[in-house]
Amino acid sequence: MSTTLGAPRPDQASYMLRAAAAEAGRAYKARLIERLDLAPGQTVLDAGCGPGTDLPALAERVGEAGAVIGVDRDPRMLARARERTAGLRAVELCEGDVHALPVASGAVDRAKTDRVLMHVADPAAALSELHRVTRSGALVALAEPDWDTLVVDSDDLDTSRAFTRYTTGYAVRNATIGRSLPRLAAAAGFRVEDARSSGTSPTPTTHSAWAATSNRPSPTATSTRRGAAGGSGDCRRGRSSRRSRW
Ligand SMILES: C[S@@+](CC[C@H](N)C(=O)[O-])C[C@H]1O[C@@H](n2cnc3c(N)ncnc32)[C@H](O)[C@@H]1O
Repeated sequence: MSTTLGAPRPDQASYMLRAAAAEAGRAYKARLIERLDLAPGQTVLDAGCGPGTDLPALAERVGEAGAVIGVDRDPRMLARARERTAGLRAVELCEGDVHALPVASGAVDRAKTDRVLMHVADPAAALSELHRVTRSGALVALAEPDWDTLVVDSDDLDTSRAFTRYTTGYAVRNATIGRSLPRLAAAAGFRVEDARSSGTSPTPTTHSAWAATSNRPSPTATSTRRGAAGGSGDCRRGRSSRRSRW
C-alpha cells in the first residue's frame, strides 16, 4: 500500500470517484465535457481516464454510432473503468501511456485530459501525443490544478504553509502545470481558444485551478505532425483516421 508522510493512502480509484461525485467535482466536470461540444458518431479520447469517471457521460453524448477510447497506464484503474462501463458498447479501454498513446494518428475528433498531466514525466511530450492523435479541427479540453494555490485554513499558519510547500515540492510532480496549460498547448501545436481558472475542482483543497479548454490544431501545424512516431495502435477503435465528420 502506498503512503504519504507515513500514513496509508486511500484506495485511489475510490477517492477519484468520490471527488468527482462531490458538488464541486460535478460542476467542474460538466463544464469541461460541455466544452468538448460532443455530437453523436464522434470518436472521443479520455487520456488518463482513471476509474472511468467520465466515460459514461462521454458515451451518452457520442451514442452507439460513436466511440469512446479510455486510456490509462494503471490496470487497477482500468479494471474499475471496465466495471463502470459494462454494457456501454461505444467504450473501449486500453492500457497505455499518454506519452505514446495506443491510438492512430488523426483518429480522434475530441480528446480530454483531467488531472493527468500533473503526474506525467513530460507534459510537453504528452501534449504532442494528443496533437498527433487528434484530427485537424478536433477540440481538446485540458484541466489541471495549480497546487501553488492550495490554501488550507488552520490556526497554525506555519503548518498550513508547510503542507502547501510539501505538496508542491514533493507530492505532485508537475505541481504548477495549471498556469502553464495554455503555453504548453500552444507549443504542442494547438490553437488555444479558451483558458480559464476555476475556484473549485475535483481536487477539493485546490483553491484555484486552471482549465485551459478547447484547442483547434491549425491545419499547418497538424499536417506537420501527421505520421509522427508514437502509439502502438492497440486500440481497435483508434486505428484508422476518421476525418469526415467536421
Ligand atoms: C487524478 S487521476 C484522474 C483520472 C480521471 N482523469 C478523472 O478525472 O477522474 C490521474 C490518472 O492518470 C493516470 N496516469 C498518470 N500518468 C499516466 C501516464 N503517463 N499515462 C497514462 N495514464 C497516466 C493515473 O493512472 C490516473 O488514473
